[in-house]
Amino acid sequence: MLAVHGVTELRDRVQRWRLAGERIALVPTMGNLHAGHMQLVEEAHRHASRAVVSIFVNPLQFGPGEDYQSYPRTLDADQAKLEAARADLLFVPGVEDMYPGGRDQVTRVDVPGLAAILDGEFRPGHFSGVATVVLKLFNMVQPDVALFGEKDYQQLQIVRRLVADLSLPVEIVGVPTVREADGLAMSSRNQYLTAAQRQQAPLLYRTLGETAAALHAGRRDFSRLEAEAVQKLSPQLRPDYVSIRAAHTLAIADADTRDFVVLAAAWLGKARLIDNIQVTVGAASRPR
Ligand code: PAF
Repeated sequence: MLAVHGVTELRDRVQRWRLAGERIALVPTMGNLHAGHMQLVEEAHRHASRAVVSIFVNPLQFGPGEDYQSYPRTLDADQAKLEAARADLLFVPGVEDMYPGGRDQVTRVDVPGLAAILDGEFRPGHFSGVATVVLKLFNMVQPDVALFGEKDYQQLQIVRRLVADLSLPVEIVGVPTVREADGLAMSSRNQYLTAAQRQQAPLLYRTLGETAAALHAGRRDFSRLEAEAVQKLSPQLRPDYVSIRAAHTLAIADADTRDFVVLAAAWLGKARLIDNIQVTVGAASRPR
């Protein structure tokens, strides 16, 4: 596997593959790769003949006081995992490669509406930072297909909207969340948990599962279900929100919604955990 830092070399390599008629997949990451990322790489091989992986801890998507400086950077271990997974190219730009004019005045893209709700309320500017770097990576790599984890469900919807609104010729594939045996969604931030907190962390997914079961059972008192979930999470976790939304639009769910997503974000010590669960109910389900 080749590792490249500069955009010129990246473009040169990818261009050769494209001219040879190959289909190119991009897996954008911030590194510190775990089984969830490796699933994205595996899926990339199913969708394309070449898998490009990017590792870039993007300063634009971290707010003041967030963990940009302390975010785990484990390039050597990441590289070994990508070799084993038969990734074809690792793009590992520096901040100066991505933002040569500095990052303060950089042109940014915003996805209005979707970026302002849920996590966007708690992390102002975060999704504009994500959309900007994803658009830059798409322009640099020019992939045919790009893969994103469903754990970051709102991010995935924002990327889909970005691609649709800006007519980008990239197919977006969402890949199901990879979980630990006890249900905790894999995340680089899980390592911020102490051993005791790690024991408590599966409560997040368990609670989402209970909300999903209630929707399946026909309950449609959404605000009450959300409040019950918040109560179950507290005080071990400190929830930012639990929200029941329409899966495809992230609009607040209503009586006609059939495809739901229940999303939650909660603090546990220094870790901010996010997770979600999708629920599809048959047309036969009736509100109680
Ligand atoms: O999901 C992530 O790791 C990041 O938000 C992404 C998509 C690589 C953009 O920096």
